[in-house]
Amino acid sequence: MKCSQTSIFWSPNKIILGAGAARQIGKEARSLGGTKALLVTDPGVAEAGLLRGIREALEAEKIQADVFDGVIPEPPARVVDECARLARSEKYDVIIGIGGGSSLDTAKGVSIMATNEGKVLDYAGVDLVGKRGLPKILVPTTAGTGSEVSRVFVITNEEDNTKRAVYSSFVLADVAVVDPMLSLSMPPAVTADTGIDALVHAIESYVSVSATPFSDLFALEAIRLIAENLPVAYAKGSNLEARNNMMLAATMAGMAFTSGGLGAVHGLAYVLGTEYHLAHGRSNAIMLPYVMDYNKIGNLKKYARIARAMGENIEGLSSFEAAEKAVAAVKRLLAGVNISIKLADYGVSREDLPKLVEGGMKQARLFATNPRDLAEEDVKNVYSLAF
Ligand SMILES: [Fe+2]
Repeated sequence: MKCSQTSIFWSPNKIILGAGAARQIGKEARSLGGTKALLVTDPGVAEAGLLRGIREALEAEKIQADVFDGVIPEPPARVVDECARLARSEKYDVIIGIGGGSSLDTAKGVSIMATNEGKVLDYAGVDLVGKRGLPKILVPTTAGTGSEVSRVFVITNEEDNTKRAVYSSFVLADVAVVDPMLSLSMPPAVTADTGIDALVHAIESYVSVSATPFSDLFALEAIRLIAENLPVAYAKGSNLEARNNMMLAATMAGMAFTSGGLGAVHGLAYVLGTEYHLAHGRSNAIMLPYVMDYNKIGNLKKYARIARAMGENIEGLSSFEAAEKAVAAVKRLLAGVNISIKLADYGVSREDLPKLVEGGMKQARLFATNPRDLAEEDVKNVYSLAF
């Protein structure tokens, strides 16, 4: 990076990582001035018993804890507005989001909308939120989205079925509590999908044209941790060390992309989620090796470093050969966690190619930070390779 350029690094105020970290939520809520907490989550998290310890921790600090478990995947703006109305009318003074990306994103929206006028969609865009929201603690139960450390949340506008993003410093958590104990019950397929989402965050921000010295540090270490620990967490879900490293990696990858940006993998994966209802992580996983292969000439050196971070021996190789090893390493990792990268295996047929290209081009804003430009013909070629 040239010294004539400036860069920004975003992060939450505080991150608490480690097994048992969730037991500190009561004290953290208290120090944020909380007396009445709203736990924002989805029914699956509640059923898995993940709220019990958190409620106990809050009660130990004499903080009233109520639960809103109405979060739904791809969170609609409507749910955020509904829950924010509840937060206002019941005068909650601290919001605690617990779950995957949908729960954390909903909690971020609720915190903002409990203090700002209007509807959450009014604030879609960059830096449009006028006031600080209610204090918030974000507690991930998957090792993937990095939402606990990002300054953005994404909501669905049900009127036209599009996703809208709200970027603001007020979206950042006051405290992110990253406790691997909460991720132990994730089944292998969810472990794989969410873990690869984190890998995509790390790789995309590492090769992004908006990468910064800070985002690079977090991205590369996240890549290393994921290559080493995702297969173990997938093979043995109860392995606390692997789970802890995956949580750490996902959080680091979140910090990387919140400053460095994403790229064409997220851009091209989006339509697989909306049209074929594939999980976010799975859609990204499918597109990852094809986009990397396409992108590599845009930054051979960085792809070579990705290969090395993933344990590949690149000594004596040309930077082109070394970059190719990064693609091979990712393919091997995906095969190891049983993720097919063939669109046909997900019911997507070749006749759907125009629909994919149209969907991909709608996300062209994400191509701006991609290390290689994509025209419509390139988008078509990348999707074609995935059949
Ligand atoms: Fe993602």
